[in-house]
Amino acid sequence: MLYNKPLNSGLKGMNPASGHFYAVGIGPGAPDLLTLRAARLVEGCDVILAPQARNTTRSLALEAVRPFIQHQEVMLQNYPMERNDQKTRQRWEQLADSVAQRCENGQSVVQVTLGDPLIFATSAYLLQSLAQRMPGAHIHVVPGISAFQTAASRFAEVLTLQEDRLTLMSATNLDAVAQALDQCETLVLYKAGTCIEALVELLRQRNLLSRACLVSCGEQGDHELLVEDLSQWDMTPLSYMTTLIVKIGRRTWQEDVSV
Ligand SMILES: C[S@@+](CC[C@H](N)C(=O)[O-])C[C@H]1O[C@@H](n2cnc3c(N)ncnc32)[C@H](O)[C@@H]1O
Repeated sequence: MLYNKPLNSGLKGMNPASGHFYAVGIGPGAPDLLTLRAARLVEGCDVILAPQARNTTRSLALEAVRPFIQHQEVMLQNYPMERNDQKTRQRWEQLADSVAQRCENGQSVVQVTLGDPLIFATSAYLLQSLAQRMPGAHIHVVPGISAFQTAASRFAEVLTLQEDRLTLMSATNLDAVAQALDQCETLVLYKAGTCIEALVELLRQRNLLSRACLVSCGEQGDHELLVEDLSQWDMTPLSYMTTLIVKIGRRTWQEDVSV
């Protein structure tokens, strides 16, 4: 059995501890959608680990926590994200070595991740590697608002009622998406920007285009794109940061029911 501090242990209990690692979800990128706990940990830690976008020195995650950075060391890293699982794991092992070393030296390390660190986040590899190097009690996860919550909130879109099934998956496997459309009431597709044409075609065939909405770069400054009804949209190229929601409906969406 595993015991941890209760979630309501108060802000005082959430100062980063010496030698501890925190995988912290920072939400969609707007600083005011950061949890108090995330802000407190970022503010008080010794080292911040942040992903660096490919071919740039930018880090959206780091920018989101900029107001809370003063004295901390910043480790900006190109995160390994190759398709080759073996290679990816090897490179995360190296990163885990340097994080574990810092913790062993008594530093507190916070890894900032957009959205939630347990949902489609490469931080999962780091968590696994660190578990072999550090005591479990020194590894913490702090949840963040995930992209699907941000996307739904932009349209005040109810995701589930009563016995509805909500499926959250990557859009990149079109066959799997087609199957999922038959098996849930609401489908949330991450990584939709990379295959939007095929998705639009599939939804058109299923007569679901008008039940689909999307958010691209939600809550990220001037770049946000909102499409409330895909049947009314002249398709434009989208960034990778795109989430699509399909309200397939069958039960509660079509009936007048109470929660
Ligand atoms: C590697 S996953 C990261 C998910 C993240 N851990 C979360 O919980 O939101 C990247 C995918 O998340 C979604 N996403 C992340 N940020 C987004 C944003 N600002 N607007 C829309 N979708 C976003 C997109 O579907 C994108 O392809």
